[in-house]
Amino acid sequence: MEINHQKPHAILFPYPLQGHVIPFVHLAMKLASKGFIITFVNTQSVHHNITKSQPNSTKEDDIFAGARKSGLDIRYTTISDGFPLGFDRSLNHDQFWEGVLLVFPPHVDELLAKLVHSDPPITCLISDTFFVWSSMIANKYNLINISFWTEPVLVLTLYYHLDLLIKNSHFASRDNRKDTIDYIPGVRAIEPKDLISYLQATDNISTVVHRIINKAFEDVKRADFVVCNTVQELESETILALQEKQPIYAIGPLFPVGFTNNTVPTSLWSESDCTQWLSTKPHGSVLYVSFGSYAHVTKQDIEEIAFGLLVSGVSFIWVVRPDIVSSDETDFLPVGFEDETKGRGLIVPWCRQMDVISHPTVGGFLTHCGWNSILESIWCSVPLLCFPLLTDQFTNRKLVVDDWRVGLNLCDMRSITREEVARKINRLMSGKLADELRKNIKELKKVLENSLATHGSSENNFNQFINDVKIKIR
Ligand code: UDX
Repeated sequence: MEINHQKPHAILFPYPLQGHVIPFVHLAMKLASKGFIITFVNTQSVHHNITKSQPNSTKEDDIFAGARKSGLDIRYTTISDGFPLGFDRSLNHDQFWEGVLLVFPPHVDELLAKLVHSDPPITCLISDTFFVWSSMIANKYNLINISFWTEPVLVLTLYYHLDLLIKNSHFASRDNRKDTIDYIPGVRAIEPKDLISYLQATDNISTVVHRIINKAFEDVKRADFVVCNTVQELESETILALQEKQPIYAIGPLFPVGFTNNTVPTSLWSESDCTQWLSTKPHGSVLYVSFGSYAHVTKQDIEEIAFGLLVSGVSFIWVVRPDIVSSDETDFLPVGFEDETKGRGLIVPWCRQMDVISHPTVGGFLTHCGWNSILESIWCSVPLLCFPLLTDQFTNRKLVVDDWRVGLNLCDMRSITREEVARKINRLMSGKLADELRKNIKELKKVLENSLATHGSSENNFNQFINDVKIKIR
């Protein structure tokens, strides 16, 4: 088939949350390094936070300036998400999602109308699968419609087959249906408790999140291509089954490996430097604790975790975001906790996670099971202690603990106690089970490494994807 040799020009729209912006930036870099021209669009709020978090930056700073200096053609612009910069998107969660659903599309339309005839013209739309407007915009501007899925394909498959879950009464049936789900193509068996929280919830079926899910996972079926931040070998059966429906490419993990310039800032908060503190600790002795950028933890769970850390005797770095508890409360750590753990524990509001977990003194990760954190932890061969809180995290936990055996559950039920927290931390950090997890995760790391090597699955899939896009542009 004939291939168009003009450089493809893709416009990228990440979902305006930290866990989505990071893989989008890495996808942009990777595409640009293969000759794509990229126009990257952040919301003004995401841009504001990224630039604010950088030392010595001004709000006009273009986050891709460094990438451009190293020869990549990445253009950058921002768009309003419909809320003023000072609006607290984390606390006003539902309003924010509603805005992204309703206010965002006309802004995207307006931007495309302005940019579509850039030099060279934009040919591809690459948007987050959670956006509901992608096929409408792609059709209107005659663009190739590429959906970027930043979570595991298992999660995508469950959303994709929402009709089957509804038909079998497994949708929104948290306490009614406890029988195994064994009818989703490419998924041998999954328990209802391991479904994405939005598919389990009985209390908020008509909320904005459900409206987004209903629309977005119908819209993805109209995409020309779906690229996923996962690895073929990690989810081969599920990926193969979905490939029967649509062209799906597993191209992960999308890390900045291999770039001479990996300095594109992506962090929405200022990063505390933990490396000096880590260097004072013995090899593999530190537990890293973080619940990502978005999930909230109850004050009671924070207390149980704090006491569990205290009792465990283990050294730790704990990322306690100022908004970790979903209320205006600020004093949620137990009184005296920081004094009692002085020297053994370091509490920071945010850090450069990859720098921390790749440090040789880190030996375990207590995590909410965000997909980026899981991929990063496997990459650094750090076993996981799983405490899923919402969305895909319950499903991701199943992969980590039940399928790949590289982590443990923090608790068997949804409530945690300090005794169990301490016991599980100790089991994760040392002993026979810890050795086994370490061995398993090292093997899994090799799978990731191999996938990115020349002729590895992700590298091949990425090249195939680029080829297929070029054929389609013809
Ligand atoms: C969100 C969802 O909550 C998650 O379930 C989904 O899989 C992805 O989108 P988030 O909660 O932020 O993501 O978690 P995660 O996917 O782990 O992404 C967090 C990112 O922020 C990681 O890349 C991590 O390295 C980075 N991070 C986190 C930091 O750089 N510093 C920190 O202190 C904490």
